[in-house]
Amino acid sequence: MSKKYDPATAVQKLEQFGEFGGVNPSITDSATYSFLEENTMIDAFHGEAEGCFLYSRHWNPSNKYLSDALAAMEGTESAWVTASGMAAITTAILQICNAGDHIITSVTTYGGTFAFLKNYVKKFNIEVTFVNISDIESIKKAIKPNTKVIYTESMTNPMLQISDIPTISKIAHEHDIKLLVDNTFTPMVISPFKLGADVVVYSMTKFINGKNDCVAGAICASEQFINDISNVNDGTAMLLGPVLDPLRSSSILKNMGTLHIRMVQHGKNAMYLAHKFKEIGLKFNYPGMPEHPQHELMNSLMNDGFGYSGIIAIDLETSEKATPFMELMQEKGVGYHAVSLGYFKTLFSNSGRSTSSEVPLEIQKEMGLSPGLVRFSVGLDHDIENTFKLIKSCLDELGYL
Ligand SMILES: Cc1ncc(COP(=O)(O)O)c(C=O)c1O
Repeated sequence: MSKKYDPATAVQKLEQFGEFGGVNPSITDSATYSFLEENTMIDAFHGEAEGCFLYSRHWNPSNKYLSDALAAMEGTESAWVTASGMAAITTAILQICNAGDHIITSVTTYGGTFAFLKNYVKKFNIEVTFVNISDIESIKKAIKPNTKVIYTESMTNPMLQISDIPTISKIAHEHDIKLLVDNTFTPMVISPFKLGADVVVYSMTKFINGKNDCVAGAICASEQFINDISNVNDGTAMLLGPVLDPLRSSSILKNMGTLHIRMVQHGKNAMYLAHKFKEIGLKFNYPGMPEHPQHELMNSLMNDGFGYSGIIAIDLETSEKATPFMELMQEKGVGYHAVSLGYFKTLFSNSGRSTSSEVPLEIQKEMGLSPGLVRFSVGLDHDIENTFKLIKSCLDELGYL
């Protein structure tokens, strides 16, 4: 398995034209499609009418263009786009798991994913074991005869642990288990399918779209898996219906054309801050720095030339210290005190009280999530030196240094 995948060139090479030779595909904002012949419609219902669209919850031409770009980026045969990242995650999991099955998951994941696995799937009698994903032995130990899925994030939210995808994939496949990887933090930087994941999911709300103007998600997988989720009789996507609006698909597709450049700049800016945070003695966490316990693993997994992504966390130890710091940073124009990530402006939030607030406090403590953790999604700042000066002035003013 090569890490030398070039997702940016794979996307760049796509040629998708619109009507009249438009350089962007035409937007199809139709819910339904007309057929000249009844038999073609019947074939379409059976998934056997090549190039025909039936109804937009099933497939839509604009969604297909975006899906093709995502499949190219990930190196998968196919992809499917959804109305949110959570829709992608829940659709993929519910497609694979039946009542009575078992899932092994990293305990550190996005809070919504944690809540789905902790609180929601029990209504289907699906059992979940939460593990420290860096502890390979604990994954092996958790495997049961009914384990169907190992779930993790390439770079976990908010602990920034790096999942050893090739090793976990090997273990999963030895037991006929599917490996599902959320690659939201590291599009282009890491290519999970190329490293052995079976299904790759995204919140496109974040880096992929990069504009914070919509919520969207994606599932990248084999043609068989995508056909299965869109099957009119028993496909999870077809029947639960988390379809993405085609107008949004077309705008996200255009943003994918600049994703590689944005990832490089997010990574460059985050790396600059990491060096500066080190210089002033802050407790920080960034996989691009040798201090990160999985820096070497990260190096071995990442594609060349896209940086280490734009997420960096600092630990101020208590939320009482984190709160005035974040408020002051917003006041001084460092960026916005807001959840989410991958935006062109810098965003920051206190993970334990926001995007991981679904995780009970005792589990936060167990996984080492400090109540004073401030997660930054570093923006595309042209003058990152000045951004750092502003951050430092906040720390100085509050007497934290
Ligand atoms: C890693 C990760 N996965 C999934 C999601 C959920 O995505 P969405 O908000 O688009 O449903 C998020 C949201 O913050 C996330 O950070």
